[in-house]
Amino acid sequence: MAEIIVKVEDLVKSFRDVKVLTGVNLDIEEGKITTIIGKSGTGKSVLLKNIIGIMKPDSGKIFFKDKEITSLTGHELLEIRKNIGYLFQDAALFDFMSVEENIEFPLVEQLCIKDRKKLKERVEELLELIELPGIGKKYPSELSGGMRKRVGLARAIAVEPKIVLFDEPTTGLDPILAENIDELIMKVNRELNMTCIVISHDIASTFRRADKIAFLYEGAMQFTGKPDEALRSEHTVLKKFISNSFRPLETEQ
Ligand SMILES: Nc1ncnc2c1ncn2[C@@H]1O[C@H](COP(=O)(O)OP(=O)(O)O)[C@@H](O)[C@H]1O
Ligand SMILES: [Mg+2]
Repeated sequence: MAEIIVKVEDLVKSFRDVKVLTGVNLDIEEGKITTIIGKSGTGKSVLLKNIIGIMKPDSGKIFFKDKEITSLTGHELLEIRKNIGYLFQDAALFDFMSVEENIEFPLVEQLCIKDRKKLKERVEELLELIELPGIGKKYPSELSGGMRKRVGLARAIAVEPKIVLFDEPTTGLDPILAENIDELIMKVNRELNMTCIVISHDIASTFRRADKIAFLYEGAMQFTGKPDEALRSEHTVLKKFISNSFRPLETEQ
């Protein structure tokens, strides 16, 4: 049994009178890929933002290893955040910075690396990893959507976080580019040993790649388990969600 690296306990979050999360419980196992699925607007991104600490819950707790993190602020929160990388849906690169500067940013800000040679080496290593060597001097506007996503991924893992959160990493990409991003996530997980939490609308990919699936519905996790357990689950809403979202798998054998 893997260690639990992140534990979410009875997390509640509302906006004005709209209750989005009504009591989320979730254990994230170290070294695994956990994929969160659920209809659009159910609070998947809100949950991720709470885990990162850029949004605070109304009640409930989140633990990183043994440390309760929802109550942390300032320096203590920054220390915990060094362990967590994230890639938002729009990749959110800084447009006024080159690719190189974008990837250097967390290295300088979070790890306080000032040595030019060290920075350059690390950026080159990351560009190799995302299979885009030599694009360091380009600006985000010169890149395709898929390339921007990959640079965003390089930036997210630059400081070697223990966990990486991906919010809909393949949304808006064509199937081949989506496959590339999926493979990169596998690489980050299997080769760099980072725990991955992925929000995905791509159910076919989720069932191929995830070690564990968590289904968010009406403010709570209605199911958590392995992909084959999800497929065998008798949970009516989950069954319906899966059958409605499965794309035809003509190319699969
Ligand atoms: N900062 C915010 N202020 C007010 N409402 C918000 C905010 N962020 C999210 N919401 C609302 O919370 C609900 C869940 O949003 P979100 O987590 O983005 O859904 P999902 O990622 O599952 O598609 C939506 O109804 C959304 O409008
Ligand atoms: Mg979302």
